[in-house]
Amino acid sequence: MSKRKILVTSALPYANGPIHLGHLVEYLQTDIWVRFQKQRGHECYYVCADDTHGTPIMLRADKEGITPEQLIAGVEQEHRADFDAFGVAFDQYHSTHSPENKACAELIYLRLREGGHISSRSITQAYDPVKNMFLPDRFIKGECPKCGAPDQYGDNCEACGATYSPTELKNAVSVVSGEQPIEKDSEHYFFELGHFAEMLKDWTTAGHLQAEVSNKMAEWLQNGLQQWDISRDAPYFGFEIPDAPGKYFYVWLDAPIGYMASCRRLCERTGLIYDDFWSPDSDAELYHFIGKDIIYFHALFWPAMLHGAGFRTPSAIFAHGFLTVNGEKMSKSRGTFIKARTYLDHLNPEYLRYYFAAKLSAGVDDIDLNFDDFTLRVNADLVGKVVNIASRCAGFIAKRFENRLSAACAEPELFGQFVAAHQAIADLYESREFGKAMREIMALADKANQYIDEKKPWLIAKEDGRDAELHDVCSMGLNLFRLLVVYLRPVIPTLAANAEAFLNIPPQGWPADAQPLTDHAINAFTPLMTRVEADKIAAIVEASKDNLEKTPSVKAKPAKTVGEAAKPAENQKLEPIAEAIEIEDFAKIDLRIARIVKAEAVEGAEKLLQLTVDLGDHTRNIFAGVKSAYAPDDLEGKLTVVVANLKPRKMRFGTSEGMMLAAGPGGKDIFVLSPDAGAQPGMRVK
Ligand code: MSP
Ligand code: ZN
Repeated sequence: MSKRKILVTSALPYANGPIHLGHLVEYLQTDIWVRFQKQRGHECYYVCADDTHGTPIMLRADKEGITPEQLIAGVEQEHRADFDAFGVAFDQYHSTHSPENKACAELIYLRLREGGHISSRSITQAYDPVKNMFLPDRFIKGECPKCGAPDQYGDNCEACGATYSPTELKNAVSVVSGEQPIEKDSEHYFFELGHFAEMLKDWTTAGHLQAEVSNKMAEWLQNGLQQWDISRDAPYFGFEIPDAPGKYFYVWLDAPIGYMASCRRLCERTGLIYDDFWSPDSDAELYHFIGKDIIYFHALFWPAMLHGAGFRTPSAIFAHGFLTVNGEKMSKSRGTFIKARTYLDHLNPEYLRYYFAAKLSAGVDDIDLNFDDFTLRVNADLVGKVVNIASRCAGFIAKRFENRLSAACAEPELFGQFVAAHQAIADLYESREFGKAMREIMALADKANQYIDEKKPWLIAKEDGRDAELHDVCSMGLNLFRLLVVYLRPVIPTLAANAEAFLNIPPQGWPADAQPLTDHAINAFTPLMTRVEADKIAAIVEASKDNLEKTPSVKAKPAKTVGEAAKPAENQKLEPIAEAIEIEDFAKIDLRIARIVKAEAVEGAEKLLQLTVDLGDHTRNIFAGVKSAYAPDDLEGKLTVVVANLKPRKMRFGTSEGMMLAAGPGGKDIFVLSPDAGAQPGMRVK
């Protein structure tokens, strides 16, 4: 087997948020693959970086009153700590906001420009006249031009699915200032992707992509390749474009270049030679692990950029699917949007490494984290099958044989079968069929347990004169355990290292020609892994739940709950239909009948009425957004339903001490529920 030189990347996580379990599908998949290559003896390097540029990061820093540099420095520390704790072992972790990346990005841009692949022209865009900045689609909101749904983003409607341009939105406002955007012209720079149509047609069908990805690319190529806008106007957190003052590289231009920058940093640090990886005649292999959402950037833009700038193209792009939790999209309100850190607060990271490995394949299918399945799998496989072998045998070896294995291998044939499995297991790891690899390994674990079940060392131990047999059986068990652990080493490196310490052996390579350990001293056994406890998972879900205040159920459409202006946080998407809540959540809401004793307009408020409502034993002040449907006089004397235990909320015009319920699509059609006669203020609504 000749030694390969391999450079591997994972997509660069955005520096505007924490690492979550969805991200970890990718970083764990990549890390397992890299550890496998290293264990096989190949020269393999794993590089990554934080993706630090762009408008959201700039605005978030602004909001927090810090510089973008300060923001990304803090996030990088968190990301590094999370990766470290999950055993994701980068050879280099860097930042796209680095001198290396600036140099690489400028070089690529200038080479593309020299090659005639950059053009420029003026385009018209939405502009925030207060913040003095152009607005990306996600920072404009308004009513859908097709269905009229309010609060939709500038590119598509989540209520009806329509796509449109931000200029078509009705009553559009800037999310940054709340002001109505104006249109403004500006010079932009474009990468002429179309120049690479032939090259890409070849490249995307030459075995660098998974079959399903390659097919998707063929569709996109058929539709024609558009120029790609690679510039953004100041203010923008990024790198200024050479010879274009006030213009910055769009974040997605310098993000993949971050792979090169991280590699360059690695080379500077270790003496490796950068050109060995990136020159057009490089014989190193280059692999990018990515999620299926960013294929376009990696399978079209990136190879074209590299080729156009005189660098080698990737050996392959490995795309994976998305993580769902218990069969559904990760959700903050269900507590299934789980941050890496929250998981780490409660559970052993190697459980998740194993579970993802058991679920991963070479395809782009989504993978599901099911909590029951997670608990079962980890407990049955790792604890029940693998670690159990060691704990069944280690006690006897310690008590009866002074922690020394027997002088000869009792079952050379069985040992030979375990070694012979190495090729099939290696092929599965190599082709990223980790799930299948785990099944192969667990089939071996079953065999090892069967062997022990048949020999029954616990019975042999009770009989006189069978010491040698007991010694052999337990030594054999530990030898099989050793091979299982060696095969699992890419997946559960900490357990493997602890097992190596217990077995008193050095870090194990791939066991292609492994020999049994005989007459070998081992160390005292310490428990290698405990069972997953179900209450820990419940605790993670609890800790991951957004508190109700942050995600008011007013997300529901079209039914409307009025009374407060429920504006979602910037950047946070509205969901078209409210997520299901548990009955316990509903039970927390104290609904009461109230009589509206006074209603009056609020000066300066377009939508609000100020209500005094009588709850039977006291009155309250509530602001309700029903002005478009009711004149104050219409409401006075009416009964309605209010949420009585809502935390008082300070609004611009005063404090609202509850929420009035109403229904309807809005405008003139908002209906206050006026209950039947017989209802009395203060009555609980059930
Ligand atoms: N910054 C870009 C990547 C630039 S690469 C030159 C980005 N960042 S990200 O933080 O949104 O995502 C990083 C990686 O994690 C991507 O490959 C993405 O597909 C992956 N995942 C993010 N959420 C995921 C899931 N819920 N499930 C699986 N992978 C997910 O995209
Ligand atoms: Zn719509």
